[in-house]
Amino acid sequence: MEKTRIAVLVSGGGTNLQALLDAQSRGALPSGEIVLVLSNRRDAYALTRAEKAGIAHRAIERKDYPDAPAFEAALLDALRQSGAELLILAGFLAILSEDFTRRYPQRILNIHPSLIPAFCGKGYYGLRVHEAALQRGVKVSGATVHFVNEIPDGGEILLQKAIPVEPDDTPETLQKRIMEQCEWILLPQAAEMVSARIARAKEAQS
Ligand code: GRF
Repeated sequence: MEKTRIAVLVSGGGTNLQALLDAQSRGALPSGEIVLVLSNRRDAYALTRAEKAGIAHRAIERKDYPDAPAFEAALLDALRQSGAELLILAGFLAILSEDFTRRYPQRILNIHPSLIPAFCGKGYYGLRVHEAALQRGVKVSGATVHFVNEIPDGGEILLQKAIPVEPDDTPETLQKRIMEQCEWILLPQAAEMVSARIARAKEAQS
C-alpha cells in the first residue's frame, strides 16, 4: 500500500517530532512517511532533528510576511509542494485560521498535554497547562491527540492517556512525566492510525 505523506509542524525543541522520527526508523509507522518538517521559528531545535534524520525541513516565519493570510499562504504552498496528506502539529505554537483548517478536514492532528476538555483552548500551552492542573488539584492528568478544526483544541478526540498526579509534583515534573509517558507514545500511535486510514481510503478509491 502507498504510504501516507506526513508533514510535521513544529515551533520548539521537537521531542514529539523525535518520537515520530524514532517510530519511523524502528518500523512503527509503516503506513506513513515523514516528508517535511515545517517550523515557524528559524531557531527551533526541531529543525536540527529533521536535518540529522535527513528529512526535508523549512522555516517559515510570520514576521517575514505582511499579514497572517500571507503567512498561511506560504505554509500552504510548502505543504502542497511536499505532497503532504496528513499534517501533525507537534508543539506548533501558531494558531491556524478556519480558512486553513478547512482545507484539511480530519487531516490535521495535534497533541495537547492535558485530558481534553480540561485545561485546553486559548492560552493553555506549555507549562501553563500543568500549572492550571496543579492549581485545580486534579489527581490525574495526561495527554490528548485530536483532530484540528477551527476551535482551538476542539476537534474530535483520537487518543488519550492518563497518569496520576503526585503530591509533590511541580509544573515541570508533571510536564516531563506527561511527555515521557503519554505524548511520545500517543503521537506515533495516532500518526500510524490515521496514516493507515488515509492509505486505505486512497486504495479503495483507486
Ligand atoms: C508538548 O508539551 C506538546 O504537548 C505541546 O507543546 C510541547 C512541545 O514540545 N503542544 P516539543 O517541541 O515536542 O519538545
